Amino acid sequence: MNRTLVIVKPDGVERGLIGEIVGRLEAKNLRLVAAELRTISREVAVGHYAEHEGKPFYDDLVHFITRSAALVMVVEGPDDQTYAVVRTLMGSTNPKEAAPGTIRGDLAIELTENLVHGSDGEESARREIGLFFPGLA
Ligand code: RTP
Ligand code: MG
Repeated sequence: MNRTLVIVKPDGVERGLIGEIVGRLEAKNLRLVAAELRTISREVAVGHYAEHEGKPFYDDLVHFITRSAALVMVVEGPDDQTYAVVRTLMGSTNPKEAAPGTIRGDLAIELTENLVHGSDGEESARREIGLFFPGLA
């Protein structure tokens, strides 16, 4: 699978980081197949985060991802496992642990900032592309 889903989350859009983040993906030879600035619906958010249902941070997660516009994208790389390339560019989920040179390591200026999402495997990439862009599945 050479495609994966990437989201610039509401905090990244609010901070004006779309250009910087898309620039990093393109500089790494990943190309946009689809992109839309949209406020993610609660229904889609619940489907997206189904694996986290019941966890203590679940409600906050759904509220956060739907609070304002996000840039939802499908990106394609030259080889398989594009999801892994994107996850490396993003850095650790916890911005405190994200290495310099990564999106979160360089751009998250508060510990609560998360900025981006990238599918965490081939199967998730397939599932999430279908969820956000049914026409592409
Ligand atoms: P994401 O799905 O958002 O791209 O992030 P991820 O794969 O790196 O992390 P994941 O485990 O899927 O968690 C999804 C989001 O939930 C929040 N989270 N909070 N308080 C906690 O222990 C905790 N764990 C996860 C993060 O905002 C993470 O992005
Ligand atoms: Mg995840």
